[in-house]
Amino acid sequence: MSKLLRTGLNAGEAAPMAVVGGEGVYFHLADGRKLIDGSNTGGGLGHRHPAMVEAIRRAADTPVVNEGWTWIGREQAADDLMAIAFAGEEDWVGAVRFCISGSEANDMALSLCQALTQRSALATRERAYHGITGLSRNMTVQPQWHGGLAVHAGGSKLPAPMAPVRILPAPDGAIYGGAANNTPPSEYLADAPRLLSDTAATIIDYTQGGIYYDGAYQDEVARHARQAGSYWIADEVVTGAGRAGRWFAFQGAQSRPDIVTLGKSLGGGAAAVAAVVVSKEIVERLKGTSWQNYGTLRGHPISMAAVSAYLRVVADEKILERVRHLEKLFSRRLLAIAQKHSSVRRVAGQGLHWTVELHGPDWRTWHADTAEVPIASRVAERALEAGAVIGTSGEQTSLFLAPPLVISDREADQLLDALDHGLDISDKERG
Ligand SMILES: Cc1ncc(COP(=O)(O)O)c(C=O)c1O
Repeated sequence: MSKLLRTGLNAGEAAPMAVVGGEGVYFHLADGRKLIDGSNTGGGLGHRHPAMVEAIRRAADTPVVNEGWTWIGREQAADDLMAIAFAGEEDWVGAVRFCISGSEANDMALSLCQALTQRSALATRERAYHGITGLSRNMTVQPQWHGGLAVHAGGSKLPAPMAPVRILPAPDGAIYGGAANNTPPSEYLADAPRLLSDTAATIIDYTQGGIYYDGAYQDEVARHARQAGSYWIADEVVTGAGRAGRWFAFQGAQSRPDIVTLGKSLGGGAAAVAAVVVSKEIVERLKGTSWQNYGTLRGHPISMAAVSAYLRVVADEKILERVRHLEKLFSRRLLAIAQKHSSVRRVAGQGLHWTVELHGPDWRTWHADTAEVPIASRVAERALEAGAVIGTSGEQTSLFLAPPLVISDREADQLLDALDHGLDISDKERG
């Protein structure tokens, strides 16, 4: 019996499959199988991309330099991020601080806003997940992630949040199963001035809970946040750095955030790295003071080399264009799959991140104090037979697809075929 205290996106004690290697979009398993890696938001370039392997090899030959010292590779990564990913955004973007995880980036950003505004309350939208530490956990409004024993319905009390949390309604954009009458955000956000009035920050992400980018929603939230004196943080930990089919999801609308948080793919899957990017205005505000939140391993030479290498690959291999092409393929095929399977309730997505929600228990009543394998996990298990690993999102009825951005059309079709195969089981159970 392993001494590892496991965790994951599913309830239950089943040990996940054992990965022993990988190449491109494939995982290699201990039993010899090769499976398409269909839901790995951290692995933007798949496995062992030659440019990433080479960059990490070279970076292994560098000194151990902590965040308190100047490291040329860190300065370079910051310059590359601005010159490549933020090209065209120069009129507002200010500077970047690197860190290790998306949770940490959000915690840093949220606490900075509290310090700048001298307010403690924070806002997010329904079904948000912003991380698992500090204020990022505070803003994760799905109760099972609150660091306790994930008992939601069973009666154990959640710990009190560190800061008051205001929750905005979410947009419902979906290619299948969306709301019949599409109310404009100005209507359903009518209460936003009251909700945001005493908040330090309003943090919005673009995938969690199956809620995706909506330009009109973004502009409306940004406007209300500005009026309330609440900093707007675009949590682009999943969507940033390419997955949305542009460098950042927020670029689809007029408004621009005060802070952008990044992570996951930022190191091309080859290193643990995340970032907080602040506006010029915030850089001005920080003059004459010191934003003190030093971390020992932040901005490590290996992570910095991974960031620079990743950004170059995305630009050189024209990955954003590929993602936009694949978005159409996914949208077309997922719509057909939804129409074919009676167990599918809703499909939404953007770029190379898609959520398939099944009929079943309402996510609000989800609880993890159960040995029963949730329906989404049973679908994912069946998809393995057809050669692909599909993730579930911690809610009983949601599956998500987020393959490496380098996936070919043929591999994308195989992944979608595997989902199609897996859904037979949920159709059967629904009767
Ligand atoms: C939108 C969003 N923000 C933040 C995070 C936290 O990132 P990490 O797992 O690197 O701490 C996640 C992780 O899934 C996420 O989806």
